[in-house]
Amino acid sequence: MARNLFKSRIGLIAATVGSAIGLGNVWRFPAETQANGGAAFLLLYIVCVLVLGIPVMLAEFSLGRGGRSDVIGVFRRLAPRTPWWLTGVAAVLASYLIISFYMVVAGWTLEYLWESLTGGLYQGLAEGTDTMRQHFAARMEEYICTDSRPLLFTMAMILINIGVLAAGVQKGIERLSNVMMPMLFVILLVLLAVSLSLPHAADGVVFFLAPDFSSITPAVVVSALGQALFSLSLGAGTIVTYASYYPDSTKLGRTSVIVASLSVLVAVLMGLIIFPAVTSFGITDASFGGSTLVFVTLPEVFANMPATGLWSSLFFLLLLVAALTSTVSIAEVPVAMLRDRLGMRRLPAVLAVMLPLLVLSTLCSLSFGSLADAKILGMTVFELFDATTTNVLMPAVALAECLFLGWFAPRHLLNAQLTNDGTLRAAYAPAVAAATRYLAPVLIIAIATANYL
Ligand code: ALA
Repeated sequence: MARNLFKSRIGLIAATVGSAIGLGNVWRFPAETQANGGAAFLLLYIVCVLVLGIPVMLAEFSLGRGGRSDVIGVFRRLAPRTPWWLTGVAAVLASYLIISFYMVVAGWTLEYLWESLTGGLYQGLAEGTDTMRQHFAARMEEYICTDSRPLLFTMAMILINIGVLAAGVQKGIERLSNVMMPMLFVILLVLLAVSLSLPHAADGVVFFLAPDFSSITPAVVVSALGQALFSLSLGAGTIVTYASYYPDSTKLGRTSVIVASLSVLVAVLMGLIIFPAVTSFGITDASFGGSTLVFVTLPEVFANMPATGLWSSLFFLLLLVAALTSTVSIAEVPVAMLRDRLGMRRLPAVLAVMLPLLVLSTLCSLSFGSLADAKILGMTVFELFDATTTNVLMPAVALAECLFLGWFAPRHLLNAQLTNDGTLRAAYAPAVAAATRYLAPVLIIAIATANYL
């Protein structure tokens, strides 16, 4: 079966950037930054992107385009009759666990967008900081911590994903990304201008950019590594799968720099939107952070601004766009696996991936409702899936990919991919080879073990 490749250079960049920029950048990053030392975490994150993210991304590009198959198939093709294909199995497992909980958070963004557009989120709001906070905390209880409402929106997101994925790589994923990515950047810039023009916005910028290095512990370093991998969609087969749809002429080095820079840029812009807005209204107390940042604190900020509904709708639309282009990329990993391993046609493969999510995503959604007290290893199903992927599977897959490319794959593979079979100059290729051979594995192992010392 001939492989359907991305049609245009812009399209493949939009799709890859769309995969990278997601809730990891717009929701998780500001919350982690706030909890872990402000700019100190930002610096750590940027270092992780530079020394680990870009080399691992180039490794995944090379595996995907060099193997031209799904994430299990590339190992089967590049290293037949070896157990390396198990790396692909771990990546598929990671993608499936991620998509199970990610779909739920994506559902919340759709729900909050709907409630911003219809005004439900702000209905019955009384003046006064305490009552406002209680109002939005109660709304979060109702929208997220009940059983049926969030499930409805999670199911809606699953349906939307089925529609996009069933349309295929060019007509589904690429077309969606071509529309969504410019939209995301326009919304970001509008919100940035609004936020920076609020009174005392500069205090928020200082709050965001003043590093507190005393907060950096081994656990925070692991978290920055996890954040770098997660926000670039690495270690879960996503970039390998997308790269298997890249034409031979794609310049991998340039693409990796564009994707990583835009991903970091969006994270920084989100910080510059959120921190000035919250400090402007004096909402930097203990209740600010984690999931309440986006779903309680920011609605409170919007409620204090004129044109509340407009800014609230734009913000949740931004979150939804970021989430949607990421969900399709993560779900494409098992879809491609079923197509390439079992020769399934696209629609049955998409349904086979999506239908079990009705159960798994439901368990994740109920983790905030009636299953909140059902703990495995002290965690809810949602927390378990999140921790297993971000802290264990993704670093392990990234490590295995680097070891494979650096030590076991045919020596010419990386170089051939980075130079497009010798037709391009890639002066940086030896540095990437050294990074995948030594630096990335050593850092991943060191960081992962430091967490347990
Ligand atoms: N890279 C995606 C995100 O950051 C998964 O949300």
